[in-house]
Amino acid sequence: MRSAYHNEPFLDFSDDSVNQQYDSALAQAEANLGQHYPLVIGGAKIRTERSHSSVNPARKRQVIGTVSQADTALAEQAVQAAALAFESWKNTDPNERARYLYKAAALMRRRKFEFSAVLTLEAGKTRAEADADTAEAIDFMEFYAREMQRLSDPQPLIPHDEEENHLYYIPLGVGIVIPPWNFPLAIMAGMTSAALVSGNTVVLKPASATPIIAAKFVELLEEVSLPPGVVNYVPGPGHEIGDFLVDHPLTRFISFTGSRDVGLRIQERAAKIQPGQQWIKRVIAEMGGKDAIIVDEHADLELAADAITASAFGFSGQKCSACSRAIVHEQVYASVLQKVVERSKKLVVGNPAYAKVQVGPVIDESAYRKILEYVEIGKQEGKLVLGGFPGDPEGYFIQPTIFADVDRAARISQEEIFGPVVAFTKAGSFEEALAMANQTDYGLTGAVFSNNRAHLELARQQFHVGNLYFNRKCTGALVGVHPFGGFNMSGTDSKAGGRDYLLLFTQAKLVSERF
Ligand code: NAD
Ligand code: ALA
Repeated sequence: MRSAYHNEPFLDFSDDSVNQQYDSALAQAEANLGQHYPLVIGGAKIRTERSHSSVNPARKRQVIGTVSQADTALAEQAVQAAALAFESWKNTDPNERARYLYKAAALMRRRKFEFSAVLTLEAGKTRAEADADTAEAIDFMEFYAREMQRLSDPQPLIPHDEEENHLYYIPLGVGIVIPPWNFPLAIMAGMTSAALVSGNTVVLKPASATPIIAAKFVELLEEVSLPPGVVNYVPGPGHEIGDFLVDHPLTRFISFTGSRDVGLRIQERAAKIQPGQQWIKRVIAEMGGKDAIIVDEHADLELAADAITASAFGFSGQKCSACSRAIVHEQVYASVLQKVVERSKKLVVGNPAYAKVQVGPVIDESAYRKILEYVEIGKQEGKLVLGGFPGDPEGYFIQPTIFADVDRAARISQEEIFGPVVAFTKAGSFEEALAMANQTDYGLTGAVFSNNRAHLELARQQFHVGNLYFNRKCTGALVGVHPFGGFNMSGTDSKAGGRDYLLLFTQAKLVSERF
C-alpha cells in the first residue's frame, strides 16, 4: 500500500547545514553552466542551428545554458511523435502511468537541492522560493498519480437491475502544454504530469525565459524510462510555434498558464475548427491576477502587515497570486501602511544566490522596463512612499515599491504589473472595501484580515475570487490543500492540485451491458 498523500515539507533555511548544502548545489550548478539542451522529439535529441541563451536575471552576463529552437517543421514532427505515442500510451494501465510519476517524484525529492539551485540561477528565485517551487512540483506528481489511480477505480453509479454499468475516464489525445516562467518547475511539471498520467501525450513548449529547468525535468522523465514520444520537449518562440501548435488539427487540448492576452488568443484560435479536425479542442487557461488584501477596522494589524509584505514582495511580486492592492479601512489605514513600509524597508534585495537575500530580480529586460513604466504611472496616480527605483545594474533589480492613496480605478489598481509594486487604497467601510476588491476584470486570489465574523461571512459569499484566504497571505497555495484557479479573466478556474483537475484531461465513457 502507498502512503496517503501529504505535502512535501519545506527546507529549514535557519539551519546552517541546509544553507551549506544549498551552497554546494549552487556551486555544482554553476560548474555545469553553458551546456546545450536539444529538442526531444519521439525520444530523439535534435540540435538545431538556431539556439537561445537562457540568462541569470540576477547576473545578466551569466549564461545558464543554450537551448535549441523549434520551427514549425519541428513542431509538426513533435505533434506527429505525440500522436504516434498516444496509440500505445492511451492503453497503458493507469497504475503503471502513475508509477512513472511516483518514481520521478522520488528522484526529484532526492535531488531537490539540484533542481532548486537551477531555479535560483535561471529564474532568480530566493532559496525559500526555489525550494517551494520544487516541493510543489513533487506534490503535483504525487497528487496526480494518486488521483489517476482513484479515477481508474470502479466509479460509483446507481445500480440498475440486470445491467452492469461502468464509467471509465479515458484520455483525450495530444495535448499542448504551455507553462509560464514564474513557477517554471512546479507549474510546468504539474501541467505535464496531469496530462501524461491521464493517458495523453504531450508537446511541451517551455517558457522562453526558463527552458533549462524544463529540460532538466524532461531528462528526469527519461531517467524513469517514460516511453519516447509521451512528452516531447519543443522550446521555441511562443509567437512563432505557439499558434502553429494551438491550430494543429491533431491537437486535442491546450493546457496553458500565462498572461491574459496569450490565454485569450489561444482560446480564440482553438475554437476554430481546422480541416481534418475531428473534435472540439479543450482549453485549460489559467491567467493573470490583480489580487487584493482587505484589512478591516478590527483585525490583527501586525499579521495583516506581515501578509501584505510577503504577498506583495515574495518573488518580487511575480506571482499571479501576488497582492498588488491593499485595501484598508480608513480607521487603520495609516497604521497598516506604516507597518508595511517598515517591514518592506528591511527586505534584503539582491542576488538570490546569497542566503540572506529576500527579494531577487525580475525576470528579464522587458519585465524590468514594463514595471518601471508602471512605477512612473504610479507617481501620477498615487503617493510614492517606498522604493520606485532600480537596484544593482548587474541584474534586473527593482526595489520594493509602495504607493499610497491610490484610486480604485487607477491603472495601477486595475492592470497586472507583475512586479514588486503594491497600491494602497483607503476604504470608508468593509462593504466599500469589498466592492473595491471586486472592481477588477480578474478574480484569482484575495485575502481578508478581520475579527468580525459577519464581515468574514459576507466576504465568503461576495468576494469573487477563485482562492479566498482569511487572516493569512494570498500566496502559497498548497497542492491538495488549496486547489488553485481563478474566476473571470483570471482563467478557466481549473483548480490545479484539486480533485477535479484530472477530469479536464480526460473524457468519461459509460459502458452499459444488459444481461
Ligand atoms: P506569457 O503569456 O507571456 O507566456 C506564457 C507562455 O505562453 C510562454 O510559454 C510563452 O512562450 C507562450 N506563448 C507566447 N505567445 C504564444 C502564442 N501566441 N501561442 C502559444 N503560446 C504562446 O506569460 P508569462 O510572462 O510566461 O507568465 C506570466 C503570466 O502568467 C502572468 O500574467 C501571471 O499572472 C500568469 N500566471 C498565472 C497563473 C495562474 O495559475 N493563474 C500562474 C502563474 C502565472
Ligand atoms: N499557486 C501559487 C500561489 O498560490 C501561484 O502562490
